[in-house]
Parts: sequence; C-alpha cells; structure tokens
Amino acid sequence: MTKYPFGVNLTLLPALVPPDYAAYAQVIIDEGIKIVETAGNSPGPVIKQLKAAGTTILHKCTTIRHAQSAVKLGVDFLSIDGFECAGHVGEHDITNFILLSRARQTLGVPFIASGGFADGHGLAAALALGACGINMGTRFMCTVEAPIHQNIKQAIVDAQETDTELVLRRWRNTSRLFANKVAKAAVQIEKTSPTGKFEEVAEFVSGKRGRQVFLNGDKDFGVWTAGQVMGLIHDVPTCEELLTRIEKEAVEAMTQTQALYQTGGSVEKTTNNPGAEVYGIGKSKL
Ligand SMILES: Cc1cc2nc3c(=O)[nH]c(=O)nc-3n(C[C@H](O)[C@H](O)[C@H](O)COP(=O)(O)O)c2cc1C
Repeated sequence: MTKYPFGVNLTLLPALVPPDYAAYAQVIIDEGIKIVETAGNSPGPVIKQLKAAGTTILHKCTTIRHAQSAVKLGVDFLSIDGFECAGHVGEHDITNFILLSRARQTLGVPFIASGGFADGHGLAAALALGACGINMGTRFMCTVEAPIHQNIKQAIVDAQETDTELVLRRWRNTSRLFANKVAKAAVQIEKTSPTGKFEEVAEFVSGKRGRQVFLNGDKDFGVWTAGQVMGLIHDVPTCEELLTRIEKEAVEAMTQTQALYQTGGSVEKTTNNPGAEVYGIGKSKL
C-alpha cells in the first residue's frame, strides 16, 4: 500500500504450536526489510540472525530488565511499552510515567514511548520524559486508512479508558483487550475456574475469531486488542490529518509549558503566587 520504506513486527510469544520464527526472519531478510520491531519472549536467536543481515532492530518491552537484556543482545533502540498499552502488557504493570523515566535514567540507547499515546500533549510529555518519539497502536486503528470495519472504529470512538480487560493473567501471558462480551466471559472463567486449564478459555481468546471482528464489524464476535488510550480517541481522521494535528498540538503544549517559565527574572514581592518557587516551577509570571 505504500511506496515508502516500512518496518516489520516480529512478535515472539508462547504458543501451543510455536511458529518457525527463524523462517519468518529469513523472509524479512530476503524481502530487503531494513528495520524490524521484535517483541515478546527471548528474541536472542532472531536478533542474531537479523543483525547478521544488517537489519536495524527495535525491541519492544514492558520492563527495564528486559530492555537491558535486549541491549546486551545487540538491539539498536527500544520501544518502552507502558501498562496502558494495547495487547501484551507484561506481568509487572508499570505505567509509562515511571517506565520512561527509568529508561532515561538507565538505558544507554535511544528509546521511543509506546502505550497510551494519541495526541500532541502525549508526544510532548514523552519527549520531556526522555523518549525520542512515540509509537501508537490503538490511535492508528481509528484512522480512515486502517483496513478494519467502520463499526470497530466507531466502537473505539464510543469507548472510554475504562473499557479494556486484562485477559490471560493466570497464565502469565496478560493481554489488554477491548472489554466486550467474549473478553468478559474469558476473564470470568479465568478467575473462577478451579482447574486452571487453559483449554477452558482457549475458545474465547481465539485469534482466528478475533481477526473476524475487524472484517465483519461485530465487536462481540471475538477478542480484539485495544488500549486505555481509547478514552482519548474521539474521531476517525486520515493519517495525514492525525499527524499534522499531533505535531501542532505538541508544539502548542511545549510552548504553553515554556510560557510558565521565564529565565533570568525574579518573582516580585507583589506576586499573587508567592509559593511558586517553593513548588519548583521556576520564576513564575503569575
Ligand atoms: C489491533 C492491535 C494489534 C496489535 N498486534 C501486535 C502484535 O502483533 N505485536 C506487537 O508487538 N504488538 C502489537 N500490538 C501492540 C502495538 O504495537 C503497541 O505496542 C500498542 O498498541 C501501544 O499501545 P496503544 O494502543 O496505547 O498505542 C497491537 C495493537 C493493536 C491495537
């Protein structure tokens, strides 16, 4: 669909029948893809294979420990995915306010921020916390170009930040999904079943049924991935409109923040906010 370069995501997850990841990586190399985002478990062998072919690797992870391991394995940069995110949130539930600052404090390689971003205010915040940029999943689902049914885009617009469910925690494979009937039923079984047998929820969390949702537009047909950021999404713009708006908002947000602060001045005795300096917001104009 594009004449421009693009990257490929390779997600390495526990599966009943594990896919042949080395074969997938080989296709990526053979097709001349220059940038790959790895995500999920133990990317070691795949990273080695892709690096040997000169691929730039971005690894997405939800903890600083995993980020540090990935750096040791030779990834070029990281995508730090906070607990707000859609999909695999990991098992440690650390939100981006902490995770991004930890990344800034500890990682020696550049990183982007992922999970919970939809607008320019979020972008400005991510940059302030030390990220080089943002990655957006749920927000891009709600664009004109996203090849999914209009009903699903509308379901996201109508949803709030509270409309997600965490599914499969019991098996340490936690996924943040849209809180529809199927996801709620799966969680109910997960929480109440005395057996702990995955087979009892397998039918509910079937990826095959989930993919049908995007085609048939029935939001309750199967489980599908969505993040808390749904609460910030109110329209279905084109990608161009979205990115132009985000850029404008980010500049506005940063300008407004800058306006709170003025270098070289001093707070006058007549100020109506004498505590400003105590609260550390610099030389207040108030
Ligand atoms: C429909 C959908 C499918 C996704 N599939 C994958 C996937 O296969 N592999 C992966 O690493 N991340 C996947 N993600 C997660 C995104 O790449 C990204 O990390 C996440 O959406 C960021 O959170 P956000 O939705 O708040 O922007 C998916 C997200 C969505 C919304």
